[in-house]
Amino acid sequence: MNQIDKEDILKAFHFRHACKEFDKSKKISEEDLQYILETGRLSPSSFGLEQWKFLVVQKPELKEKLQPACFDQKQITTCSDLVVILAKKGLYEPGSAHVASMFKRWNYPEEIYNMLIDFHAGLAANYDLTQWAVEQCHIAAANMMTAAALIGIDSCPIGGFLPDKVKEVLDIDSEKFQVGLIVPFGYRLNPQPPKTRLPFDELVEFR
Ligand SMILES: Cc1cc2nc3c(=O)[nH]c(=O)nc-3n(C[C@H](O)[C@H](O)[C@H](O)COP(=O)(O)O)c2cc1C
Repeated sequence: MNQIDKEDILKAFHFRHACKEFDKSKKISEEDLQYILETGRLSPSSFGLEQWKFLVVQKPELKEKLQPACFDQKQITTCSDLVVILAKKGLYEPGSAHVASMFKRWNYPEEIYNMLIDFHAGLAANYDLTQWAVEQCHIAAANMMTAAALIGIDSCPIGGFLPDKVKEVLDIDSEKFQVGLIVPFGYRLNPQPPKTRLPFDELVEFR
């Protein structure tokens, strides 16, 4: 792999901000959207279970209906593409056939496979499995936002939404999905504010 310049990566991290309003006249190309979604698809997930589904909302009338379910935030209707990351539910209980089929993809020796199944069952018995799936959605979201920033595309993680209303508008089956995070992508309308972060030394401790 070609080495990417560290300065360029850091520039992208400075460029990415929680964009409050997008320029409605600017659309993301199909190729760039595919690239962003691909970085979500390639993201790491606990046990490799890919507990997400990416629903791309593009129709203006659907975005209009979603905006009130997201506290009327402008990003919903001004963005080019709205990625609703859905967390899969009801698939990860100990002994789940879905988990078994996902693990089988790796073609591990039976001993390793059985170990994984037991390890998963032990953990799954002690987790809120829906919340656990939502956490994985956040990882995919972070990767997509960074990937977008690297090619000059803006985004904003939207956690401010009413899950039941979002599901109603999008006709999502509550038995199968929880709304993980909503991420609008597009091009900023206004300049970004300065970055506000705690100092490095306060956040990082070396031992
Ligand atoms: C899980 C999560 C949910 C968020 N929800 C919203 C939101 O609903 N609306 C919004 O404008 N920003 C939202 N943000 C953005 C944060 O407010 C923002 O990332 C933080 O203030 C730092 O600013 P920056 O991203 O511009 O550097 C959310 C961020 C995260 C990680």
